[in-house]
Amino acid sequence: MLERLESLRADALQRVADATGMEELRAVERDFLGKEGALAEILAAIPTLPAEERRDTGRGANELKGDILEAIGARKSSLEESEVARLRDAGGFDPTLPPAAPQRGGLHPITQVRREVESIFSSMGYEVLDGPEVELDYYNFQALNIPKDHPSREVQDTFYCDEAHTLVMRTQTSPVQIRAMERLSPPFRLIAPGRVFRNEEQDATHEHTFHQVEGLVVGEDIQVGHLTWTLRRLLNELFERELEVRLRPGYFPFVEPGFEFDVRCPFCEEGCRVCSNTTWIEFCGCGMVHPSVLAAGFEGRDDVDVDSLTGFAFGFGLDRLVMMRFGVDDIRNLMGGDLRFLEQFPC
Ligand code: DAH
Repeated sequence: MLERLESLRADALQRVADATGMEELRAVERDFLGKEGALAEILAAIPTLPAEERRDTGRGANELKGDILEAIGARKSSLEESEVARLRDAGGFDPTLPPAAPQRGGLHPITQVRREVESIFSSMGYEVLDGPEVELDYYNFQALNIPKDHPSREVQDTFYCDEAHTLVMRTQTSPVQIRAMERLSPPFRLIAPGRVFRNEEQDATHEHTFHQVEGLVVGEDIQVGHLTWTLRRLLNELFERELEVRLRPGYFPFVEPGFEFDVRCPFCEEGCRVCSNTTWIEFCGCGMVHPSVLAAGFEGRDDVDVDSLTGFAFGFGLDRLVMMRFGVDDIRNLMGGDLRFLEQFPC
């Protein structure tokens, strides 16, 4: 038996030495050390051996197993080393290079600009509020002084969520004004950024889903001057310089008087694509909160004297601001989910 072990050893080590790849090494392991391999056969035969041979045969078999495994391990390392050397010398592969960095996500450009806007308003003492995206018709329209059949409902083509048209995908962030009045005690200042939805044709400047930032300030003696100061402050912070602004009369049912607030194009002096060659950019709708809106929002509040209150409100499109900030020319890129687009705004 011991001679048999010696001849197995010679065979095994020869095959290991001749191996030129992992497959062959695995085969040696299988043939000699596997469940049905040569060594298993020997071990199985031990009980049939004369007593004086058993111990040496068992020990010899174990030693051989260790030696074969060791030889396989050593051969494996040397094959790997020569493979690396071969690839390195062939060029194109440098095993000393660090591995590719894992892909990291970043903040969406809309989130980046929204956070910037939030931080500017927070520094002026504003709260940042949220509101539901699926909204009651009451908050989205009625309480904002837009009764059923009012023509301005047609301007904001609406996705209705039920047959009775009591639930809508909110078409604007203005409903948060009413929700805030129901909960807060004046004086207060707030902004409400969020997603809004309109059922309209899509093109480079129109999306069915976009983002607005609503603003509302309610207190005593709030005037138009407070409104313009606040919006100028926002724009100066965003564009890091003083920009000319103007108010034009504008109609929104929930403010009186209502305005369109324009800002001088920050990108040109004589007209460009961003300002449609007018040098002015329509920044937002705004105005003094309509008394009917204050009445609806504070209805039933014994602790609030509505008649002593005034307020201003504004609402601007966040997507447009993002497009201006980053020079994006098609709004559909923003929510398109294409990484090749999004990766251009690392942060
Ligand atoms: N909600 C209006 C819109 O979506 C924008 C707006 C205009 C908001 C005037 C206001 C405002 O708060 O006072 O077109």
